[in-house]
Amino acid sequence: MEAIKNIKERRSIRRYIPKPVPADLLRQVVEAAAYAPSWTNSQTVSYLALYDPEIRKRVDEKVAEVSPHNGEILKNVPLLVLQLSENGKSGIRRASGKPIREGMDQHWQSFDAGLSAEAFCLAAHDYGLGTLILGGYAEDMIREVLELPENMKISCLLAVGYPEVVPDAPKRKSAEELLQTV
Ligand SMILES: Cc1cc2nc3c(=O)[nH]c(=O)nc-3n(C[C@H](O)[C@H](O)[C@H](O)COP(=O)(O)O)c2cc1C
Repeated sequence: MEAIKNIKERRSIRRYIPKPVPADLLRQVVEAAAYAPSWTNSQTVSYLALYDPEIRKRVDEKVAEVSPHNGEILKNVPLLVLQLSENGKSGIRRASGKPIREGMDQHWQSFDAGLSAEAFCLAAHDYGLGTLILGGYAEDMIREVLELPENMKISCLLAVGYPEVVPDAPKRKSAEELLQTV
């Protein structure tokens, strides 16, 4: 698929058909997402796919507690994937182990995660899968379920599956509104 077409066509999918996502297809999506740029190519972003129905149920419940809207969506999401990123790597000077600027380590960690999430969603779209980035959850509640190591942050949740409904694109700002020149 042409890159521009893929970028413009990808939508946030909130309704999925009840068809499982093949493990090998998810692997291919992650393999493509690995090509996203990252701070000094540190590649600190990884993905945790929740295939275990019991774990999935507990995570869904935690999301629903915080966001009933997202809880409703999750009821028909075939596969939920956690995007994880490693703390203390992005935005850090390798030689000194210190942030490039005070506080900027968190900024660049999120930046890397965002780039990887977009690559993940675009790759999934290319393979015929729908995705939804979910930010409406409480990280501490999900960490507790999964007993994640302290150095791992949940950067976002990603719903993955075959779309049932593809909505129209929400209106975008024009290039004229977005682009200034000096
Ligand atoms: C960081 C981030 C967090 C988001 N969190 C949610 C969410 O919790 N629930 C939801 O339904 N959509 C969520 N979205 C999806 C946005 O609403 C969606 O990307 C936006 O409306 C544009 O629609 P499009 O992705 O179809 O172009 C999130 C998107 C981003 C980038």
